[in-house]
Amino acid sequence: MTIHESEMRVFLPPVALAERATVSSMEAYTAMCTAADEDYEGFWAKLANENLHWHKPFTKTLNESDAPFYRWFDDGRLNVSYNCLDRNLQHGNADKTAVIFEADDGEITNITYSDMHERVCQFANGLKSLGIKKGDRVVIYMPMSVEGIVAMQACARIGATHSVVFGGFSAKSLQERIIDAGAVAVITADEQVRGGKRLPLKTIVDEAINGDVCDFVRNVIVYRRTGGDVEMIADRDLWLHEVIADQPADCEPEWVDAEHPLFILYTSGSTGKPKGVQHSSAGYLLWAMLTMKWTFDIKPTDIFWCTADIGWVTGHTYIAYGPLAVGATQIVFEGVPTYPNAGRFWDMIAKHKATIFYTAPTAIRSLIKAADADAEVHPKKYDLSSLRLLGSVGEPINPEAWMWYYRNVGNEHCPIVDTFWQTETGGHMITPLPGATPMVPGSCTMPLPGIMAAVVDETGNDLPNGQGGILVVKRPWPSMIRTIWGDPERFKKSYFPEELGGKIYLAGDGAVRNDKTGYFTITGRIDDVLNVSGHRMGTMEIESALVANPLVAEAAVVGKPDETTGESICAFVVLKRARPSGEEARQIAKELRDWVAREIGPIAKPKEIRFGDNLPKTRSGKIMRRLLRVLAKGEQITQDISTLENPAILQQLKTVVTT
Ligand code: WTA
Repeated sequence: MTIHESEMRVFLPPVALAERATVSSMEAYTAMCTAADEDYEGFWAKLANENLHWHKPFTKTLNESDAPFYRWFDDGRLNVSYNCLDRNLQHGNADKTAVIFEADDGEITNITYSDMHERVCQFANGLKSLGIKKGDRVVIYMPMSVEGIVAMQACARIGATHSVVFGGFSAKSLQERIIDAGAVAVITADEQVRGGKRLPLKTIVDEAINGDVCDFVRNVIVYRRTGGDVEMIADRDLWLHEVIADQPADCEPEWVDAEHPLFILYTSGSTGKPKGVQHSSAGYLLWAMLTMKWTFDIKPTDIFWCTADIGWVTGHTYIAYGPLAVGATQIVFEGVPTYPNAGRFWDMIAKHKATIFYTAPTAIRSLIKAADADAEVHPKKYDLSSLRLLGSVGEPINPEAWMWYYRNVGNEHCPIVDTFWQTETGGHMITPLPGATPMVPGSCTMPLPGIMAAVVDETGNDLPNGQGGILVVKRPWPSMIRTIWGDPERFKKSYFPEELGGKIYLAGDGAVRNDKTGYFTITGRIDDVLNVSGHRMGTMEIESALVANPLVAEAAVVGKPDETTGESICAFVVLKRARPSGEEARQIAKELRDWVAREIGPIAKPKEIRFGDNLPKTRSGKIMRRLLRVLAKGEQITQDISTLENPAILQQLKTVVTT
């Protein structure tokens, strides 16, 4: 059962959009699905030949001999940056705007495809001049900027594998990722500017690679964004503008194997340590392009805007790679939706005449609140008539938020693509097609052609529609995760568990299909992963951060439903000293929240902290998380607590410490 099962409203694709759409009817969609069913490899081979530029064509489409380490287009060679940039220059897009960059303070810079090509080539040559080469890993810790995208593309051009770390992660999180990836260089900026505030990225990098644990990092390249004070360490730190100063504006791409790792992106899993999700070159780029065409129906005249950060997978696929590979014009935004006021997104859509807008439900929900409070920042106050398509990503969108988005932003004529996907899937998996699929608020509807998604029980048997179960993908697809960097065993265990036969992909989400339509609704994670404001976080990660504090003896973290952020973090803590109360409790709670921000990053700060003399445990010592979730919600405990060792502490754990 899910809250959306009663949802009966259906919204049809607008006729005018459907007529011109890449996939223009359910019949067209079904025909594509049938083509994939009938000749799976042939389906993908054709698309890979039509969409990618191959330096050396592939002869084998899918190699399953070492499953689940699937290999796609194995013997082909190509270069991702060549596909994104050079191809556009050859096809008449040299003077087309690739990026409309709007800075936090509103300053606008336009970058054409030929500018982009030149910048990427210079940066690539600069990286080479430092001895960075194919197969090396480079960590990118950058603000939202043209330079951030250029850095990613430059790595791709020389075959270096990048790992972008979101600018909101702490020095410690950054350090863990640098070590795990074994990066030879870090690319950063002096400072990041968001909402009028400056954040010192370079100082955080210095802290992260301080001492000898990161002595394999040879260089730190610093983009001067604000001119703020930074310390430059001799022989290690270099200004970006100096690195590229005399570099030629052309750089022969490094042709790499289809399976060459384009990037590693760390994401949270059930255990404490973040997983380095490794993606390929060819399969990943193919899917980035196809989903730009199918899901976003991208046309040469579109102005595309994805509001994600390049530190997350959405910013990889739908900012740094997808839009460029299909020759689109896109908006890139440095700032936050609420600065200088909560009308910023609407103002930017109007100003740049955005036609496609892709954002997260959390942003929508917070802008609904803001518009309710202040009519001046209501989307109806802005001219949003350029929009033709809206998208949602990162978390379930509740039907109320969907309706508001549809009415007030889309003016009831823009389809909403509710795209379900994950860091591991590389691109969209289950989503409406804007010219084909009748939409139901709160449902991501149907899998894209070629994606064999299904709902099964714990042993892998198909479940009938209407019955909730676990979401799997039964066949490998080109943009899937290839492995967990440095930990192939964990890759197998996490995504291809033996209980399901070892060959089908376990998404980690629950799902249910509608009785009548077969539409998918995602029911939430089935593991210990939280989704706070569309940011993925492991409960264990936060628990380990808490217990690393000298005051803490034990901690358990659970998610609590939150109107705006989807879920919020609730931490139950046992201290080494006696359970605090009053002012002392407030102070310690504040200290612990700040501690987690320092250990992981501000996004991981628990919203609520509760102290107990102990945690609710079974007689065998297992923490009863189910109970903690009920307590977090403030609900009455109805379940059987007879196995509970210490029922008295439940009362204590009801008290929230206000900080
Ligand atoms: C959740 C973000 C419902 C889901 C692209 C998934 C969604 C996790 C949706 C991946 C959606 C993402 N509806 N849930 N449209 N999109 N999710 O790796 O739980 O940051 O497993 O990738 O977000 O988050 P990640």
